Amino acid sequence: GSQKANKKILQGKHVLITAGPTHESIDPVRVFTNHSTGKMGYALAEEAVEMGGEVTLISGPVQLKTPRGAARIDVTTAEEMYDAVMEHFDKADVVVKTAAVADYTPVETSDQKVKKQPGNLIIEMKRTKDILAELGKQKTNQFLVGFAAESEHVEDYGRMKLENKNLDMVVANNITSDNAGFGHDTNIVSLISKHEDQIKRLPLLSKREVASEILKTAVRCMGGER
Ligand code: CTP
Ligand code: CA
Repeated sequence: GSQKANKKILQGKHVLITAGPTHESIDPVRVFTNHSTGKMGYALAEEAVEMGGEVTLISGPVQLKTPRGAARIDVTTAEEMYDAVMEHFDKADVVVKTAAVADYTPVETSDQKVKKQPGNLIIEMKRTKDILAELGKQKTNQFLVGFAAESEHVEDYGRMKLENKNLDMVVANNITSDNAGFGHDTNIVSLISKHEDQIKRLPLLSKREVASEILKTAVRCMGGER
């Protein structure tokens, strides 16, 4: 397939990828998370290895095999992901933030199981740090790719994330499309690039093919060979 035709366009490049959801614990049995399965990020890691990249994969809790040739670092919470990403950011040439990071985490995590009570339960949540926005502030030469998971106004919101977080590219996807997004092996995305005026609207593709398109576009925008 298309992988065979790809040259080693990421040879000598460090590629930092985050994947999967995060888990924010309420107590020893309960957790806040989301529907991310990690498939898109793992496909990116596989493809980046295939293209000759030095791949670091920072992964939330997922049920997937480590891509051959990638260095995987497991994290659980948004805070742990933040720390791991910051540790590896300096040497990265390309960063792809596929992970579905929790926006909120419980103000308190109970050491003991919380017992049920009569009436409603209110759990107070605080904001997590936006890892990608922080990378946008700190970036020097890194090519920064974010994802925008949206259910409406996909390209408008995607463009806003591109600008607000100082990114080089946004991969915008409508999580409500058929056969696309969470848990599927296929995806429908639009690539919105700071360096190219045109939005690249890709058809329904396997996540591996989407990964290939993302990385090829990134390399092209970085001024490398096609
Ligand atoms: N992201 C991050 N850290 C967070 C939240 C999000 O690094 N605490 C990253 C995601 O990995 C993704 C991008 O930001 O690459 C966009 O995530 P998304 O949830 O679509 O957007 P948010 O900026 O969190 O805004 P909202 O959820 O309100 O749409
Ligand atoms: Ca979010």
